[in-house]
This record gives sequence, C-alpha cells and structure tokens, in this order.
Amino acid sequence: MSEIIDGNATAKSIHQELKDELSKLNFGRPPCVAFIRVGEDPASVSYVKKKGKVAAEIGIESRLHVLPETTEQNELDALIDKLNGDETVDAILVQAPLPKQLNERRTFNRVRADKDVDGFSNANLGLLCQEDPQAFVACTPAGIAELLKRSGVKTAGKKAVIIGRSLIVGKPMALLLSKKGSDATVTVCHSKSENLAEICSQADILIAAVGRPNTVSADMVKEGACVIDVGINRIPSSETKSGYRLVGDVDFKSVSPKCSKITPVPGGVGPMTVAMLMRNTLSAYKRHMAERKI
Ligand code: GUN
Repeated sequence: MSEIIDGNATAKSIHQELKDELSKLNFGRPPCVAFIRVGEDPASVSYVKKKGKVAAEIGIESRLHVLPETTEQNELDALIDKLNGDETVDAILVQAPLPKQLNERRTFNRVRADKDVDGFSNANLGLLCQEDPQAFVACTPAGIAELLKRSGVKTAGKKAVIIGRSLIVGKPMALLLSKKGSDATVTVCHSKSENLAEICSQADILIAAVGRPNTVSADMVKEGACVIDVGINRIPSSETKSGYRLVGDVDFKSVSPKCSKITPVPGGVGPMTVAMLMRNTLSAYKRHMAERKI
C-alpha cells in the first residue's frame, strides 16, 4: 500500500517555520503582499481568499485589489505600476487565469522582478534557467520540490516524467528537477506526445499537471513510483453542499495501490503552493529591507 503524502501537514510546518523566522526580524513593518484578482472566477476567489488567510496567520499583511471582469490591459498595467512603485509592498501576485482580453505574458512581465513572487516573469524564469539562487521560483513547482525533499523522495539519477508543459507548472518543474543538486533525468510530455502511457510507465517520479480528471491510470504507473497529482478539477457532485467536488488528474483509486507514495487531491500539492508563496514573500521582504532600495 502506498504512503499518502500529506501536503496539508507539510505546509503547516512551513508556515510555522516562516512565522518563527519572521518573529526574529525587526524591520519596523510587516511583509506585505498585494493580490490582484480580475473578475469573479469562483476558483480564483477561493484561492486568493486562502492565500490571504494563510498570510495573516504567519504575520504577513495582504492587500486585495479586485478589478472588474471587463478590465482593459492598460488599467491592469496601471495598477501593477502603482504597486511596483509602492515601497510598502514587497510582493505582487496577479491571479491567473485572466479574462481573455488580457495578455497574461505581458501582465506577468509588468511585475517588477524583485516583487514577482510568482516567478512568472521573463527575468525570474531566466534566473531559474541559470540556476541562480536569486530566482523566485513558481510556487507550485517549488512546492512539489519541497514536498519530495521533505517526504524523503530521492531525485538524483531518477527518471522524472512531467505531463504538461505550462509556464506555471511543467516548464519550471522540469528546470527544478534537472538542476544541479536535484539531478533527475526529466521528460516533459504534452498533448502531442506519442506513447504517453509507455513513457509514464518508466517514471520513478510521475508528475501530472494537465487539468483533466483521470489522465493517469494504473497502467501508466510503474510499480513503486512516486506520483504527484497537480490537477485541481471541479466536477459536479450531488453529495456536497457546494454542488461540486475536487479531483486531481490521477485516477487515485486504481493508481494508489501501485505506487510507493502519492499526493491526494485536495490536501497534496495545493497547500504547498500557498506555503511557497509565503516563503517567496518573506524572501522578497528580507531582500527589500536589506537593500533599502525602496
Ligand atoms: N493560478 C493557478 N496557479 C497559480 C499560481 O501559482 N499563481 C497565480 N498567480 N495564479 C495561479
């Protein structure tokens, strides 16, 4: 039987570590992260609310900016510019996905690199590519790397297969796992990959970041593999008050008996994304305070 990796418990430990670290700092004001949400996408509303709640528990101030669904690019740019220049703001997060009239790449690149705690800007992706420790690393891949480390999963020399090549998860995940110190051999699969099941079944570490339920079935998983499920899919359910339930990209029931370790949905990768956002925010704060540039 596989071990279920408890993302909630791991994230909680990290929150406590960050809180302890923060309590030893005395810079005259708390760290501050600004959240920008455009529109009322229910998942985004819920994620941003959760991030604000965890920030408060740690002692990080958060400021929520909600813009209407019809916001134009120049209006969003203007808000980002204002926050970029606000010396009381250490970190900026623009919640994705954005409404279709807005350009995500342009938006992410508008955020000043030293406040880009999402790590989505060209500057931070470039630093990650160069294995520069100053890079802010995207929170979901950073959370997965931390979860693997804290769960005792060895990556050096191992075969890691990532399904999904997004800028938010797949690409930075591949860079993180293949960099010196992690030393995995990484394969990135996507919608055009041939023989997906065969490639996946060779993985020691299989990471599913597709956004489609039941993408990974038992026949795609090697006996004893570690399976990380990044998917958070809302499917209709008559059994819950909300009318939906969350499932991952992995068919948990059939896959879990086959693997050594597996993350559940919810309670696996999701909480780690939030924990890494808090860690990045604390880093940005410490950097700003040390440099006193702003
Ligand atoms: N949407 C899904 N994941 C993320 C994330 O890590 N950051 C932001 N800003 N939006 C997201």
